[in-house]
Amino acid sequence: MLQELSRIVAQDKNFLNIINGRQGAALSQETITVLCPSDGMAFATIPAGNKDDVDRAVQAAREAFDHGPWSRMPAFERGRLLTRLGQLIGKHGEELAALESRDTGKPIRQGKADVAAAMRYYEFYGGAADKIHGDTIPFHDGYTALTLREPHGVVGGIIPWNYPMQIMARVVGAAIAMGNTLVIKPAEDASLSTIRIGELALEAGFPEGVLNVITGYGREAGAALSAHPGVDYVTFTGSPATGTAIQQAAATNNRGVTMELGGKSPQIVFADADIEKALPVLVNAIIQNGGQTCSAGSRILIERPIYNEVAAALGDRFSSLVAGPHDEDLDLGAMINPAQKHRVENYVSAAAEAGIDVIARGSIDINAPVSGYYVAPVLFGSVEASAAIAQEEVFGPVLSLFAFDDEEDAIRLANSTEYGLVAGIWTKDGARQHRVAKRVRAGQVFVNAYGAGGGIELPFGGFKKSGHGREKGFEALYDMSATKTIIFRHD
Ligand code: NAI
Ligand code: MG
Repeated sequence: MLQELSRIVAQDKNFLNIINGRQGAALSQETITVLCPSDGMAFATIPAGNKDDVDRAVQAAREAFDHGPWSRMPAFERGRLLTRLGQLIGKHGEELAALESRDTGKPIRQGKADVAAAMRYYEFYGGAADKIHGDTIPFHDGYTALTLREPHGVVGGIIPWNYPMQIMARVVGAAIAMGNTLVIKPAEDASLSTIRIGELALEAGFPEGVLNVITGYGREAGAALSAHPGVDYVTFTGSPATGTAIQQAAATNNRGVTMELGGKSPQIVFADADIEKALPVLVNAIIQNGGQTCSAGSRILIERPIYNEVAAALGDRFSSLVAGPHDEDLDLGAMINPAQKHRVENYVSAAAEAGIDVIARGSIDINAPVSGYYVAPVLFGSVEASAAIAQEEVFGPVLSLFAFDDEEDAIRLANSTEYGLVAGIWTKDGARQHRVAKRVRAGQVFVNAYGAGGGIELPFGGFKKSGHGREKGFEALYDMSATKTIIFRHD
């Protein structure tokens, strides 16, 4: 069934931008060819939007925010729109999962997981829209002071290619719940689900201009959106370098930003840990989505007495991992594009040439098209904290193991990168769980668990180079709004 669907999707289709409730090509008529990472073959096009298209989309969002019925719509009605969109995503779940998998190369079960997560975001924020309140503040005699949570206005959302459906959902869900309007710019490598969900939002009854979608290259459409004076707030997930460019552009208008810039997330395995329970979680945390996950668990720190045992068990699992076409639903799919494949391969060959121990390698399915962008998983052992694969976000199926001597050493190693997004701690010692969780610099810390990706309800975001601001959960509603304080004098 799903294979049939991905064949339907695979037929030529020209996807269109959505501006002010209407679909259309880029003003220039230019397009970008959409390639499937599983075989490198073209199967669709998207508009190559530029600053003129962005300008029209921002004007539509501005108009809807400033003059449309939107600003008078009660919060519960905005919530209903989100809930309806979530239901429509469920109704079209098989189609969306197939589309996302075909567009990104991810195994179909991950496409399905992304659909389920997207639905949950729209449900969560649909329910949250009318449940966020201001305060009343004790002030001088003769006064009453209160706060309102107001939308920023027009939000520009720049989305990466690794989890487009989920990341669009967390941005749109929180922004719409708080009454903003949006212009979304998905990644040129994975725009299809964003366009399709933009269409479903119109079907759900989103008023025109409230949710606009512009596709195009980052340096054109993305740069124009982040620098546009009609945009009140910018939210971005992607690389630190692009995050810096976007913050600089937003700074020319002194606009606020939320930045989610990836990680080099550690999992700390103490000698008393339940290893059998940990092993599948440790593997999944780096293999899910081919390691192209901001919260991927790419470093495992192992207490020295159990280092050899854990390294051998992980080696066994790594040697049996297979990468292959999305519709084969193997352990992992292809990398998003040839550049990403080469980037990962370069990290692997540089590490191997530097003499870092290769404990195990997975394989590429023998039937996988040679034109696909596959990388076999690699497990490196006894890695030094200063190595590139220990410090830099590889964004591929590459896992590094480190040995540590005691709790202090584990914390030092965990905090030894510029990133601080997620961490995992594996130990049965309750006091240690609390101590280590507090001392690890990460926006999310899992104890005896690890969730690369999930957790709609859980505030998420980074310390240090991993960014600032928080998404997901109720916290995102604060980022997507600003406090207005009103002071009444009545003496
Ligand atoms: P990127 O950060 O350049 O792209 C992400 C988004 O930003 C895309 O929508 C792109 O069109 C847009 N963009 C690019 N340049 C822009 C600019 N100057 N102004 C405004 N928007 C712009 O990521 P890229 O180059 O595709 O991947 C390179 C590396 O970035 C990956 O290997 C990975 O390490 C990291 N990355 C991290 C992600 C995460 O979830 N933390 C997601 C994607 C990439
Ligand atoms: Mg790029």
